[in-house]
Amino acid sequence: MIQMHDVTKSFDGVPVLNGVNYTLSHGEFAFLRGRSGSGKSTFLKLLYRESEREHGTILIDGTAIDALQKFELRRKMGIIFQSYELISQHTVLENVLIAGKALGRPLEEIEAEAMRLLTRVGLADKVHQFPNKLSGGQQQRVAIVRALLNKPKLLLADEPTGNLDRETAQDIMTLLYELHREEQMAMLIVTHSEELLTSGARVSVMEGGHIDE
Ligand SMILES: Nc1ncnc2c1ncn2[C@@H]1O[C@H](COP(=O)(O)OP(=O)(O)OP(=O)(O)O)[C@@H](O)[C@H]1O
Ligand SMILES: [Mg+2]
Repeated sequence: MIQMHDVTKSFDGVPVLNGVNYTLSHGEFAFLRGRSGSGKSTFLKLLYRESEREHGTILIDGTAIDALQKFELRRKMGIIFQSYELISQHTVLENVLIAGKALGRPLEEIEAEAMRLLTRVGLADKVHQFPNKLSGGQQQRVAIVRALLNKPKLLLADEPTGNLDRETAQDIMTLLYELHREEQMAMLIVTHSEELLTSGARVSVMEGGHIDE
């Protein structure tokens, strides 16, 4: 799903990623850990082309990312962040539907899929609420559903539990792991919390500009 070879990135002449190699298989579930400032978010941004690498190659789902338009690349992936990034003037359901409307999918189809997923994550009774009426954990569930609506082959998560208390964070991690199995997509989750790592899961570490298993 991800094949990265010898990728470098620096800011103002200071190298952050210094020859990163990384592979994630289709349907694989993996964590990326590393200290603050080690380059984890930078690494993710290169994958979804929020930022451009200097050297090296990146393939997503077998295709070089430069061979795709950004919207084509991002169609293959769902992305979630620490800060949820929901639109406050829109209801839960509307926030989720945005992802499907962006691809021009029929409203009936995406409404059914949104309701299925919102029910799955325990938010069936919140679909017409506004995000500011929801807890942090509930808002993150909405963001997860939005990211999954178009059935991406890959979900990228950058500190998805960083704003949550420990118990809620654990619930969200468990939910992500279950969704990875049920919806059959690869997931790469960045976290700096060791205690949240799902037992048995693959863990890579970003350190000194490299990724080590
Ligand atoms: N747009 C930018 N311009 C300049 N420097 C940047 C930029 N983005 C990141 N950096 C620098 O690159 C380094 C890695 O940042 P990055 O955000 O990738 O770290 P991180 O591992 O995600 O950290 P955290 O765990 O705190 O989120 C840091 O030193 C940061 O200051
Ligand atoms: Mg980061």
